[in-house]
Amino acid sequence: MVTQRINEISYAIREIAAVASEVAKSGKKIYHLNIGDPVIYDFQTPAYISQALADASFAGKNYYVDSLGAPELREEISKSLIQKYKVKVSTEDILVTSGVTEAIFFLIATLLENKNEILIPGPSYPLYINYAKFFDGIPVEYELDEDNDWEPNIDDLRKKINDKTKAILICSPNNPTGVMYSEKMIKQIIDIAGEFNLPIISDEIYDQILYEKPFNSPAVLSNDVPIIGLNGFSKSHLATGWRLGYMYYYDPDNKLADLKAGIAKLARARLSASSIAQYAAIEILKNPGTHTKEMVNKLKERRDYSYTRLRKIEGITCVKPNGAFYLFPKLDFNEFKNWKDDKEFIIDLLKTTGICGVYGSGFGDYGKNHFRLTFLPKKEILETVYDLLESFLTKIH
Ligand SMILES: Cc1ncc(COP(=O)(O)O)c(C=O)c1O
Repeated sequence: MVTQRINEISYAIREIAAVASEVAKSGKKIYHLNIGDPVIYDFQTPAYISQALADASFAGKNYYVDSLGAPELREEISKSLIQKYKVKVSTEDILVTSGVTEAIFFLIATLLENKNEILIPGPSYPLYINYAKFFDGIPVEYELDEDNDWEPNIDDLRKKINDKTKAILICSPNNPTGVMYSEKMIKQIIDIAGEFNLPIISDEIYDQILYEKPFNSPAVLSNDVPIIGLNGFSKSHLATGWRLGYMYYYDPDNKLADLKAGIAKLARARLSASSIAQYAAIEILKNPGTHTKEMVNKLKERRDYSYTRLRKIEGITCVKPNGAFYLFPKLDFNEFKNWKDDKEFIIDLLKTTGICGVYGSGFGDYGKNHFRLTFLPKKEILETVYDLLESFLTKIH
């Protein structure tokens, strides 16, 4: 009845939520550490942002807007790129999408077919794997080296480029490892992309959620290598449910003309992204407020607490994340022989303790033997979670 391409789609982050709902039916309390949505925790969308959304509707902005995005919003995004990264991108090189999710869809649909390849970080945010396969392409994972703070293994990346490769993805700060690539590493990737004449896709959705260092922007570091930046309002502006994102092309030599025209066709075919969200986003960019900074301060405490607790558990190792809101610990399966893999572990953990994390293999081959936990919940909840996790694993020893 359904196509093979649909059968191949899997999205561990939501699939584990379905298992959690089943477990909850037995009356067990569930601790959700699986979904990267700050708004369902104690990070509320600021009132002025909600007001801007309502105002846009009352002002009658309830129609389809320009398929590439409301011109005023593209103007503000262009200004914000200069302000944030000192990168000049004209409004024609900005496209507003229904979340970064739709931007990923547009890009992969336009770039891949006939088993062409995209180089993605391993482990990777699962959507890149799904869409690459969906469009008959191959997601090829380059290793992020856990022993080197999850920095890319540049030799592995280079080795995996061939004449089928269409683009290199940088996702930094990264989901699921929570680590931002160093400036030196990004420069090396840009050099390789230049050598092989490949564009870089840069998923920057966590660019404002950094704890120690400011963001390393590929577009700033590139001279002539085209960078396709992806960003949005979901995480830093606490508007996950609005479904609003954008892509920008840093393309000084106009190497992406075909790609841009192709993506614009696809954008026109789907009419437009949410109009009222776009008009409200203009207000957000004009008046960015203090909510992002406040969120990062709160999250830093939660990261430090979670990391300290995790590190004390025997059989677990973890790199300290410097961005986003995920920890990606590794389980030593030589110590824990009860489970055959990370998925079995996560399901047992969920059924026994109510802690809902995501199994690492849901993030591709390099995610095996790991699991992902967000540190979005309040400290009181994290305390309970880590008490439960610690006693669950201690009993196994
Ligand atoms: C790396 C990454 N890219 C994209 C997305 C999707 O973002 P959006 O809400 O803008 O569709 C997420 C969501 O978790 C993400 O982690």
